[in-house]
Amino acid sequence: MISHNLQSADPEESLSPEATTLAKEGGTPIRTEPWPTYDKGDRLLVAADEEAALRALRSQRLFRYDTRPYSETEVGRFEQEVSRYFRAPHALAVSSGTAVITLALLSAGIQSGDKVACSAFTFSATPSAILLAGGVPVIIDTDDNLHLDVADLERRWTPEIKAVVVVHMRGFASDMEKITAFTKTRNIVLVEDAVPSCGVTLRGQHLGTFGHGGAFSTQSDKSINTGEGGFLLLQDEASLAKAAVLSGAYEGRVFHHVNQEDFDDCALPLYNFRLDEMRAAMAHSQLQRLREKVQRHRTIYDEVTAGISKIDLLHVRQPVIPGDGYLGHCLNFWVRGATVDQTRWFTQSLRAEGIDVRQLGDPEDTNIRCFWNWRFLGTVFLKGERLEPPGS
Ligand SMILES: Cc1ncc(COP(=O)(O)O)c(C=O)c1O
Repeated sequence: MISHNLQSADPEESLSPEATTLAKEGGTPIRTEPWPTYDKGDRLLVAADEEAALRALRSQRLFRYDTRPYSETEVGRFEQEVSRYFRAPHALAVSSGTAVITLALLSAGIQSGDKVACSAFTFSATPSAILLAGGVPVIIDTDDNLHLDVADLERRWTPEIKAVVVVHMRGFASDMEKITAFTKTRNIVLVEDAVPSCGVTLRGQHLGTFGHGGAFSTQSDKSINTGEGGFLLLQDEASLAKAAVLSGAYEGRVFHHVNQEDFDDCALPLYNFRLDEMRAAMAHSQLQRLREKVQRHRTIYDEVTAGISKIDLLHVRQPVIPGDGYLGHCLNFWVRGATVDQTRWFTQSLRAEGIDVRQLGDPEDTNIRCFWNWRFLGTVFLKGERLEPPGS
């Protein structure tokens, strides 16, 4: 419908007065279908997912670690499939994306008080996970397309920074060529928060496989929806052993994951972030449709952005490599030259038309993807200044 309006040679002539009156001003909304997310009425689960959950339930065995061999459990099978799908040497399924980022850092040996750089544009779970791992977040600015600004990372670099958590926010890959060069040169840990970009590749390589660890979530908003859950991709077996014990593989259960007979599993605390059989069964079932889902997002996204890119007033977020490295489930754009109030008017108008949109940075809408709302960090500095909401 949007593209119909845009393509109309003379919209005033071809559309009825009702169609040209904004819904905000009493016209008929352009979109009346439910917004395609789980919480606004869309149905994302299919019969195979229901069947998978029932299979696990009927087995009466809901705990991942029991007398069954690893590859006969739902979680074990899911981990094997994840590892194959993402072409990652190791996978560990756990209870949330936040837990995954924490485990990625801890398994890499991050110590209490170590500084960890992280993107300024992310859900507040990212800096929270750094805190959970005992680290101190150092917030790195974004560039004009909301990707982590590698120049700012270089400016802020000090040897106290032991790791970088790069976030592929809203489905968009960060500049992995520059970021991996940065972390390799300094011999520091790279963790990818790939929670919002499950299934995205950059130059053919899956996000989440560029560094020490890749973090994914299966919370309901994500590409795979099990209510809660997540999985970690890891490159080396020693880190897998650590992450598995920390996640709750106690009394030898770590040997379901690794064959390191001398591994001392009592030397690590148990944080109990384990995943259960029912959710693993549902995640496994949905993983079969991930490729197709990513493709569908991309097709729709490319069509929509081709349309709105014709409107000079709007600037659409650009990927780091043209035509590559984005999921397409979410559209970020700027209204060129608009004030905060004008942008709010535009946002409200789109919402009235049935389009689910938010104005990032609106002081009247506390969005926890904006770093200045992370007050739990205390006084955080960016560009040498204390973080404050815009307009304050
Ligand atoms: C960028 C990002 N990182 C981490 C998380 C945390 O994932 P979870 O809710 O599974 O803990 C989220 C959740 O939405 C997220 O968007």
